[in-house]
Amino acid sequence: MWHSPPVRQAADQPSRRAFFGATAAVAAAGLTAGCGPEIAPTTIAPVPPTGRFQAGIVAPQEAQTNVLVVVADLEDGVAIGSLLAELGKAVQALTAGTDARLLGFPSGDLTVTIGIGPRLVRMVDPALPGAVDLPEFAHEQIPPQARGGDLLMQICANDVMIPPIAAAALLDHTSNRLRERWRQSGHRGSTIPVDQGRTAPRNLFGFTDGIVGPHTTAQQQQNLWLPGPSPVADGTIAVIRRMNLDLPRFAALPIPVQEEIFGRRRETGEPLSGGTIATDPNLNAKTPDGRYRIPADAHIRRAHPTTAGVNLMLRRSYSVNDPAPGLLFISFQNDIQTFTKTLTHMTNGDALLSFTTTTATAPFLILPGFDDTRPLGSTLFHT
Ligand code: HEM
Repeated sequence: MWHSPPVRQAADQPSRRAFFGATAAVAAAGLTAGCGPEIAPTTIAPVPPTGRFQAGIVAPQEAQTNVLVVVADLEDGVAIGSLLAELGKAVQALTAGTDARLLGFPSGDLTVTIGIGPRLVRMVDPALPGAVDLPEFAHEQIPPQARGGDLLMQICANDVMIPPIAAAALLDHTSNRLRERWRQSGHRGSTIPVDQGRTAPRNLFGFTDGIVGPHTTAQQQQNLWLPGPSPVADGTIAVIRRMNLDLPRFAALPIPVQEEIFGRRRETGEPLSGGTIATDPNLNAKTPDGRYRIPADAHIRRAHPTTAGVNLMLRRSYSVNDPAPGLLFISFQNDIQTFTKTLTHMTNGDALLSFTTTTATAPFLILPGFDDTRPLGSTLFHT
């Protein structure tokens, strides 16, 4: 069986990239010891691209600081199975450091996560998860070019230089077979400790984002990974949406009003119902005069799985500054309804939504993990 845990592979096969990573960490430590303010060196741990699940979803545990999402369409008549298998090989070469384009970059934590759009899923079987397009929602201004797409490449790395180089390499490998549709880069700043080594970044409104989600293995089994049917087992469904955020209007609000919009304290991330950042929001908690501590239109109430009637989604969003300040919302879940029902419930009364305008959107079936004996996409397409 090929179901070996990804972490083992990292330990068993030290790559050239792991060496670069270690060298960079040591170099960083040396630099900080002698001069300037003390900055903790970033440990660059390699993330194996192969295994039961694709990398870039729960591995590494703390999302890398930079993302580049590239969405492309397939040209007519392209052999999809071969294309995906070649992409998988190219991802392996990039992460192993054997692709010359990345020579010299200490980028051990590069991950590339590949998904296919509903049109391609329907070509296999319209009944499969991932076969449906997202409906239109309120607060959208999406040009046709930025709605949907056949192929997703989510490329993450702590070194800001790596994702665009990796994207160029992957597009080069697939030349004349892919037509780029839209791309978006995003970034994460410093993070806030949440629980058991987990951290979460702040978004451009200043609130900590990514606290609630399926973080234990059992929760991920139940909410994140597709249990089947076999061609999609151990894959998941991704939703990618770029939203402009109205920073000036939000920043003009007093902090307590901002906190009521989210339902959490801005500085600490704790829910307005009390406790710490890691405490589950208590949606029933009331003030002595009978008002909900987490208001009826607060984001964490409207988006809460119990009020939306859905499972948990794993959010792994990034902030964007170009073309406009905003959020590159990225969620993973094993049922598209987890997303659509949540956003529908938000649309019917979430105070946050009036500060957002969505300008790009696409759902993808994230392919099951792959390795040398099971090429990327081979459970769905013949090579
Ligand atoms: C596509 C639309 C969105 C969906 C489906 C969504 C979904 C969610 C979900 C499911 C939660 C967890 C709620 C809970 O159980 O407590 C959440 C919380 C949160 N969301 Fe959103 N959200 C969306 C848009 C946004 C936007 C535009 C922002 C910021 C600009 C944002 C920032 C946050 C923050 C700060 C929290 C609270 C902390 C946390 O649990 O991570 N969300 N969101």
